Amino acid sequence: GKGGYEHYMLKEIDSQPTSLRNTIKGRISPSGDDVDVDAFDPETLSEFSEVQFVACGTSYHAALYGTTLLNEAGVRARTYRASEYQMASDPVTEETLVVSVTQSGETADTLGAMRRASREGATVLTVTNVMGSSAARAADETVYIHAGPEIGVAATKTFSSQTVTLALLAQRLAAHMSGEREHRDLEPALDALTSLPDDLGRMLEGDDAERIANRFLGSDAYFFIGRGLGYPVAKESALKFKEITYEHAEGFASGELKHGPLALVTPQTPVFAVFTGEHDEKTLKNAKEAQTRGAPIVAVAKEGHPAIEATDAHLPIPDTDPMWSGLLANVQLQLVSYHAANELGRSIDKPRNLAKSVTVE
Ligand code: M6R
Repeated sequence: GKGGYEHYMLKEIDSQPTSLRNTIKGRISPSGDDVDVDAFDPETLSEFSEVQFVACGTSYHAALYGTTLLNEAGVRARTYRASEYQMASDPVTEETLVVSVTQSGETADTLGAMRRASREGATVLTVTNVMGSSAARAADETVYIHAGPEIGVAATKTFSSQTVTLALLAQRLAAHMSGEREHRDLEPALDALTSLPDDLGRMLEGDDAERIANRFLGSDAYFFIGRGLGYPVAKESALKFKEITYEHAEGFASGELKHGPLALVTPQTPVFAVFTGEHDEKTLKNAKEAQTRGAPIVAVAKEGHPAIEATDAHLPIPDTDPMWSGLLANVQLQLVSYHAANELGRSIDKPRNLAKSVTVE
């Protein structure tokens, strides 16, 4: 049941400290330098030269986050929309590891992409939430995100568990696939991971998201911008916002604003800017370009961040490793979408025209 909550979505957002703990449990060695994702004989990993992610919707955004993490860890990776992958002419070989990311494990487009990958000789790994799902049965290897059942059509806790699982996978793959390439050491981020559920718990006690949602209700459109790991968060936040509020929302790479979308910006279009602790000066510069056109800017940033002074509203996130700031920002923005949709009286758990799992192509 809803456990006293009016909507499953809010219950699921609030349960994220627990679901994340379950995702992490038993997967990081006590010394913090090794991870176990219950898949793959380490011997076989060095056979792969490249990772191709296939996914849809929110899972696609989690895969984008994962791609950035893998690339930073020195592993060649890219993300495809599963529906496009089937027509893509990009080469797939025996050295390709195809990773499908699918909460339900039943998404037809994703299953189709997995079939193409298998047909062309790739090894297929699926990252899923549902034991015995079609994706788990079709894949060569399965890694579960252990987020627990998600009832709300809007994916929330599964996005957080997917990104963390992909970070663990990145650490695992990097040890075998990064070769001589220069890469970032993921260990500090894995250390920070152990306190992430508590950070999240503290953040969820605040009412900042509800305040911000009410303040900007009735705007013409809602824009979300971010750079690096902030980019998939901007895309995901906009998807969530449009999905449950039925209001117009778009997510952009902050640097892209001036290449077109800036034409849409007015005093009636708030811009949510995600500050992860990396590339923030550039993001602030891009946010100010929108501010100059009259748009109110909401800085999603840790306390004391220089962007707060320069912008119009602040949505706080706890201080953590830059690898996880995006995850925290995403949860705050899930709450903004939720409270906006609630205020508008929308059908939050079952938005119009949508289904929890999309079993047609
Ligand atoms: O079950 P999957 O992760 O494969 O589902 C993919 C998308 O249909 C799903 O994430 C959809 O975008 C969500 N409703 C977004 O909240």
